[in-house]
Amino acid sequence: MCGIFGYAGNEPCLHIITAGLRKLEYRGYDSAGVMVYDDAVQVAKNTGKVDDLLPHTHDLSARATIGMGHTRWASHGKATAANAHPHWTPAAAIVHNGIIENHAELRATLSDDNIAFQSETDTEVVLHLVVQALQSQPDPLIAFSSVMRQLKGLYGLAMFFACDPHRIYISRKGLPLAIAAGKDAHLFSSDPLALAEHSSDFMFPADATIVVLERQRLALYDYDGEQLPLPVAQHLQVPTQKIDKGSYRHFMLKEIHEQGLVLANNIHRLFDFAQLRPRAEMLALQKIDMQRVKRIKIVGCGTSYHAALLAAVFAEEQLHIESLAEVAHELRYRRALLNDQTLIVALSQSGETADTLSCIEHARSRGCQTLAICNSPHSTLARTCDALIELNCGPEIGVASTKAFTTTVLIWYLFVLAVRSAHARPLTKDAHNLRKLPLLIDYVLNSTAQIESVARQYRQARNFIYIGRGPSFPIALESALKLKEISYIHAEGYAGGELKHGPIALIDHDMPVLVVAPQDDYFLRIVANAGEVKARDGAVILLGNPKNRELRALSDTIIPCPDINQPLLQAIVCAVPLQLFAYYLALEKGTDIDQPRHLAKSVTVE
Ligand code: F6R
Repeated sequence: MCGIFGYAGNEPCLHIITAGLRKLEYRGYDSAGVMVYDDAVQVAKNTGKVDDLLPHTHDLSARATIGMGHTRWASHGKATAANAHPHWTPAAAIVHNGIIENHAELRATLSDDNIAFQSETDTEVVLHLVVQALQSQPDPLIAFSSVMRQLKGLYGLAMFFACDPHRIYISRKGLPLAIAAGKDAHLFSSDPLALAEHSSDFMFPADATIVVLERQRLALYDYDGEQLPLPVAQHLQVPTQKIDKGSYRHFMLKEIHEQGLVLANNIHRLFDFAQLRPRAEMLALQKIDMQRVKRIKIVGCGTSYHAALLAAVFAEEQLHIESLAEVAHELRYRRALLNDQTLIVALSQSGETADTLSCIEHARSRGCQTLAICNSPHSTLARTCDALIELNCGPEIGVASTKAFTTTVLIWYLFVLAVRSAHARPLTKDAHNLRKLPLLIDYVLNSTAQIESVARQYRQARNFIYIGRGPSFPIALESALKLKEISYIHAEGYAGGELKHGPIALIDHDMPVLVVAPQDDYFLRIVANAGEVKARDGAVILLGNPKNRELRALSDTIIPCPDINQPLLQAIVCAVPLQLFAYYLALEKGTDIDQPRHLAKSVTVE
């Protein structure tokens, strides 16, 4: 999603800023822009990628030493060059992430004389308000803070003023902004990853504060203009190496294939095979008072929500504590029963999902304990929650989440075992299954050719239904989401038992139904559901053990998936072939698999 990068220093900065924007590309965006100052505000913007912006930057000063850039994911107004940031006038320029909720009301307060809006964005309203405030109050800090006080919503933004050309004014509320010191320079970005080649120490200013940044100095103020002590810099190990696709055609395919190794590494990191127990200290158990927990709510969005659905059922069964999964933005805005006996678990690959962050803020204000299971230890979520368990699955670049999903499920399994096994017998059977899991993932990955051939068979399909029961139901939802995201084929996931309550009306020979059918407690029931589809001429694709007689009697099209006698681990095994199925169908359709249209890797607006 939107990304900000800025520089004030001693070196020509245009290429530093565009290089910073490239580091933000993985988040997904649809336009980009850059501003530098060299006796005048100079701006270049374009739709598309940073590569599409570069030819437009040739007229910008190559010796300017202060400037900022932006990657935009359209929210207010289409993805056009006019709506791209920076927005600017000869007096000032602004880049902004987030949404100004009261922009319409604020626009009405602007005295309309001679203000010609160039874009449809909420951001441009802020620009004109500050420029107007500057006319009556020439101190940029006072003008800027007077407007910041009026903003509603979540934002991270930065402004440059031609009347104060060595400084950039930065403010945030709810959305991340990191500041770092470089060589004779200060830099800022919405993502520490973009700053990592300049420094490993980052400052994270608090909400509703203003950082005034210049080459050799930083100062922090509140919105009343009172100077505050600077936040203590945090040392973070942010990866600086360039991540490439290796021999894979797409990051997504590479990340699918990494799962065997990633899961094995996490198993050995978190499970002590000598003691036959999870390593409780590494699963953050000492930071959560489980004695106090009477209710667990597991929240996330999209794929992370599907992991939450699996996690909640398992927690309730194993811990005998009421456990519920909920999409974070729904929990945030209803009158949920939350108190100090509630443990809120936030699942998030990025740790920057605005919906999840605002849910956690809300839960904390109600006294809940909070646990993050997250792939970014430097993210806002990781810094906000009482406890963190890192996914440790390496950067996920493909927008469609794969290895982060399976790793989240594995980590929850180990967390629950750790809670449960504090006084229990050694977990011999679990240890056996954990040893087996990476081998089964490798088995699936070795069946790629078969999966590719089934995908090719269905390249003309315009719709898909996925069904599953028990732990395979969230897998049906997740696999349908994966297919929609990257192939743009319409797909829906249902619990097998729901078919007859409505969706069965859709079944005909043009409606392929993918049946997630591992050999588990639900097997005979899901086979019966597959039979109902077959009886109505639906094309049945089975995911299951190809040696199974019942499955072979139902359909010739079987995507091989081995059995493992543990429901959560079985869900992980089932997810992988269906990630590959979605991938190969998308490949047939020729879509932009790593950066599908309209999607962003890090969804930083509510
Ligand atoms: C789908 C996908 C999204 C994310 C969702 C939450 O493939 O990746 O649905 O799962 O946007 O993101 P995180 O997990 O970063 O909070």
